[in-house]
Amino acid sequence: MKILVTGSKGQLGFDVINELEKRGYTARGTDVEEMDITDSAAVKEVLSDVSPDAVIHCAAWTAVDLAEDEPEKVMTVNALGTKNIALVCEALGIKMMYISTDYVFGGGGTHFWDEDESGFAPLNVYGRTKYEGEVAVKTILEKYFIVRISWVFGVNGKNFVKTMLNLGKTREEISVVNDQFGSPTYTYDLSRLLVDMIETEKYGCYHATNEGVCTWYDFAVEIFKTAGLNVKTVPVTSGQYPAKAKRPSNSRLSKEKLTRNGFTPLPAWQDAVKRCIEAMNNGG
Ligand SMILES: NC(=O)c1ccc[n+]([C@@H]2O[C@H](COP(=O)([O-])OP(=O)(O)OC[C@H]3O[C@@H](n4cnc5c(N)ncnc54)[C@H](OP(=O)(O)O)[C@@H]3O)[C@@H](O)[C@H]2O)c1
Repeated sequence: MKILVTGSKGQLGFDVINELEKRGYTARGTDVEEMDITDSAAVKEVLSDVSPDAVIHCAAWTAVDLAEDEPEKVMTVNALGTKNIALVCEALGIKMMYISTDYVFGGGGTHFWDEDESGFAPLNVYGRTKYEGEVAVKTILEKYFIVRISWVFGVNGKNFVKTMLNLGKTREEISVVNDQFGSPTYTYDLSRLLVDMIETEKYGCYHATNEGVCTWYDFAVEIFKTAGLNVKTVPVTSGQYPAKAKRPSNSRLSKEKLTRNGFTPLPAWQDAVKRCIEAMNNGG
């Protein structure tokens, strides 16, 4: 099987390529220099040329706060870019997997969001544009995977684990938001699952994160504990730590559909943090 991965220089795309190669698949990574997904002609040319059996679409504008200042640009990348890929996949009969986000949900309450939920109410520009990407995929294709993930971290790229480790080396005290609930997702673990999924015809919307729910504060405490950093961590509310983009307070994602369809869930998030920090200490 030949699989094209968009955003292959990003944190998830990088690990997906590694996982595909580990399993002996032909993995073809593309990033903005070679195939700018907003350029429909480039998308058509590269996909026709490579002629993959499947596309794992990881490329996106992911800077959530910056997105508030550039709504049109972000919509072009996350919605139009995704539409461009979906149109070519439909025309050439290529299986498509779109990576989406918990931020498509409005995030009230304490329940777990269903995989086939229809009540989308994104709170920020990034979430709205990723949601429009989902709409494009669902409208254009009959056979697709939409996989919503959250709080992503990995060895390659900027993420919360790296930010905390860096701050922990220079600061004695850090305030971290303690009223947003969700699940961290380790790109190494997720890549294994995404490749398990793309090998099948079990199409549809899924959620995929490491097991367990926490707040950003819990996440930070675990990172410092695992790294052996002695940092005073102070829990604060979202109101005390204002960010440009609003974030949902409830990002609990149901993952029942994964097990129902025979996929192996990801390990606990604390275990993932431990392995990620070990991998970072070993140079990636
Ligand atoms: N990070 C998270 O916490 C998170 C949470 C939920 C869902 N997700 C989703 O998970 C997926 C992977 O995220 P990630 O964290 O791996 O993202 P990432 O590290 O930011 O990687 C995204 C990649 O896409 C590239 N890209 C941006 N614009 C492009 C364009 N017009 N054409 C082609 N490539 C372009 C980026 O290049 P540049 O770096 O040069 O811009 C980057 O290499 C995304 O779909 C994201 O929406 C992420």
